Amino acid sequence: METIFANADITNENAFKQAGELLHAGELVAFPTETVYGLGGDALNPAAAGKIYDAKGRPSDNPLIVHIAHLESVEALAAEIPENAKLLMEAFWPGPLTIIFKKKDVVPKETTGGLNTVAIRMPSHPAALKMIGDAGTFVAAPSANLSGRPSPTTAEHVLEDMNGRIPLILNGGAVGIGIESTIVDVTSPVPTILRPGFITAEMLRSIVGEVHMDPALESVSADVAPKAPGMKYTHYAPKGDLSIVEGEAADVVAKINALVADGKAKGQTAAVICAEENAGKYICEHVLVAGTRKDDLTIAAALYRVLRECDNLGADLIYSESFGDGTMGYAIMNRLMKAAGHRIIKA
Ligand code: TXA
Ligand code: MG
Repeated sequence: METIFANADITNENAFKQAGELLHAGELVAFPTETVYGLGGDALNPAAAGKIYDAKGRPSDNPLIVHIAHLESVEALAAEIPENAKLLMEAFWPGPLTIIFKKKDVVPKETTGGLNTVAIRMPSHPAALKMIGDAGTFVAAPSANLSGRPSPTTAEHVLEDMNGRIPLILNGGAVGIGIESTIVDVTSPVPTILRPGFITAEMLRSIVGEVHMDPALESVSADVAPKAPGMKYTHYAPKGDLSIVEGEAADVVAKINALVADGKAKGQTAAVICAEENAGKYICEHVLVAGTRKDDLTIAAALYRVLRECDNLGADLIYSESFGDGTMGYAIMNRLMKAAGHRIIKA
């Protein structure tokens, strides 16, 4: 199958017409959202869900997020809309928040990975809203990467993973946020965060009061099963061995430089992931800058791109600084720790 790239500018009517036709025919379209690129199919068509799992090489027990273009669409998909959910939708939609509801029968089990609940999100990216709204369908979409690769933050990343597997990629350039949406479950009385993201626990608490964290988020052991099935897989892992080096800033630089030198002596290719502020301090052929510590949004936006670069460079060893400060620090470290298989080196 030939994969076509189309400009996702909302004035490019032809591209959206083609996307709508493909979605109605049960085919897949990759599209930009404000978080990461999605791999979309008709959420009410069980065959489209099957195609999504095939294209990604993803286990079919991992449920998909259903994307909508209008607030009222929730009524067609959710069996119940609790008061907390209404408040959160009002406050954060359109935007990077996914809400888990009890599902109506119209939503096929293929889309929800066999669960009785459905994850719904109204993205804020204009191209996503136009594609879904014009098609007049609901769009099931996981991130548009091959399973196990970092989520795509540019259309080129999608092409790297999906070339020949899907007919159309809507190219909207680099996304804004760069890390997947926050997932909150409202099916129990106290809303529970299943995946951290741009919308923080504090932001949710300011709207609904008490909010819990899924205990699996705080645990590295495999015996605490996460409530979002997708969180149990080793995601985002680069091919090389990634370790996070923690400690005082100067100690981290010294430790990483020593580890890089060790690797080099053994003929291994090393890469360093660091903030702009420290880029000049590393003695390594491949220093990958993930934004500035003055603005953690820049770090979130760059994270998956630099992890992909590690693969493209053929890095055997990857040493990353830690990026836990700032409002997005929790979400950034959730992804980076998974990518590193929770390997931390104390400097
Ligand atoms: O930002 C995002 O959410 C992006 C863009 C494309 O919208 N999408 C995304 O989808 O990250 P995906 O498939 O890569 O991640 C969806 C996560 C998985 O961890 C999945 O297990 C969880 O959402 N999920 C989906 N439906 C669920 C449900 N009914 N209950 C619990 N977790 C659910
Ligand atoms: Mg994903």
